[in-house]
Amino acid sequence: MQLSIKYDAKGIKELSIAGEVETDEETAILLKYINDCLEERFNIVFLDANIVNKIIIDRLYMLQEYHQSEIHVNKQYLYAYLHKLGILCKYVNRGRRKSEGLNENSLEFEYKLSNEEVYSFLLDIYRIYGYDYTNYQIDSIMRRIKISMLRQGSVNFNDFKTAVINDESLFEQMFINFSINTTEFFRDPEVFAEIRESILPYLDSFTHIKIWCAGCSSGQEPYSLAILLDEMNMLDKVQIYATDINPYVIQEAKNGLYPLAGVEKQINNYRMAQGCKGFMEYFKLRGNYMEISEKLKKNILFFQHSLVGSGILNEFQLILCRNVLIYLEPILQKNILANFYDSLDLSGFLILGKSEGILNNNGGELFYSHQQPDKKIYRKKN
Ligand SMILES: C[S@@+](CC[C@H](N)C(=O)[O-])C[C@H]1O[C@@H](n2cnc3c(N)ncnc32)[C@H](O)[C@@H]1O
Repeated sequence: MQLSIKYDAKGIKELSIAGEVETDEETAILLKYINDCLEERFNIVFLDANIVNKIIIDRLYMLQEYHQSEIHVNKQYLYAYLHKLGILCKYVNRGRRKSEGLNENSLEFEYKLSNEEVYSFLLDIYRIYGYDYTNYQIDSIMRRIKISMLRQGSVNFNDFKTAVINDESLFEQMFINFSINTTEFFRDPEVFAEIRESILPYLDSFTHIKIWCAGCSSGQEPYSLAILLDEMNMLDKVQIYATDINPYVIQEAKNGLYPLAGVEKQINNYRMAQGCKGFMEYFKLRGNYMEISEKLKKNILFFQHSLVGSGILNEFQLILCRNVLIYLEPILQKNILANFYDSLDLSGFLILGKSEGILNNNGGELFYSHQQPDKKIYRKKN
């Protein structure tokens, strides 16, 4: 991270931040700069950051509420994140090419990418950046490449490919576009009701319980589990590993800040999952966003981990991997299911997404359905 202070054309002080704010030390330096600027009106500009931590968000909220500072953001991901938390900011779009006249439909029409050229591009990405997308569903990846081209204002696949291979920040934007992070608290509430009714009572006989939430996105799924465990008085003996390939959603999950907008749906999910308190009791209200309670955070370890190539995690009694396999080719689904088998303890549970299953992947050799098959809850065969 690098900080600089200058005055804009209107004579307003501007604090610019280059790079991501990654460490506690960098956060402390940024806060000190902000404090030193408070004497006069100033604006703050994030040039490269895709995400910021909770301490900085709280400070941005304070600056906006009490100091009338404008927040300018150059990266779409951070802009969308701050916006959904109700922190007003301007998308400044510095240093990018224009893409007027293009839209997803026109791009769809113009580009007929072949499977071979996309595959060769994915191999280059794997070789250079270490992320293996070669066995993700090709149609979905193709569409995401086209969206990335559109956002970069690029009209030629070969030019785009060369640019991404040579410029890590362009890869970073494409990586973000590859990631579909849709999630919510108590998604598919009947599955959480089943966890509450038939899985947790069984796991309660263990003295220590390890749960892996693989592909946890911005954290709503592991926090939903933590709420269930808290209501069953089991939280203290549980360690939840919550992992995702995408480091930006992992930081969102660690922040534990969620928009108030749309909370009714999550409250309804919680009720349908047979939640026995008030959903909002688990949050502190801050402006337009809400902050998850600290007691739910302390037994969750969030970290970046890819199901393709980051190595195996072991000795879990329960693994949730919901709405992740659906984006992968069958060969990769099969490998991941075999890894989950190895990662589970004897008779451990595996939960997949409602539209996923093990049957097309020879998973029946490794797992069997627990209760009704439509809940996609399985048990390891011993
Ligand atoms: C649609 S979200 C599902 C979130 C949550 N499990 C749910 O069902 O609400 C899929 C998540 O899988 C993550 N993902 C995709 N490929 C992955 C991989 N190879 N390893 C780990 N996570 C991955 C994405 O980054 C994304 O956050």
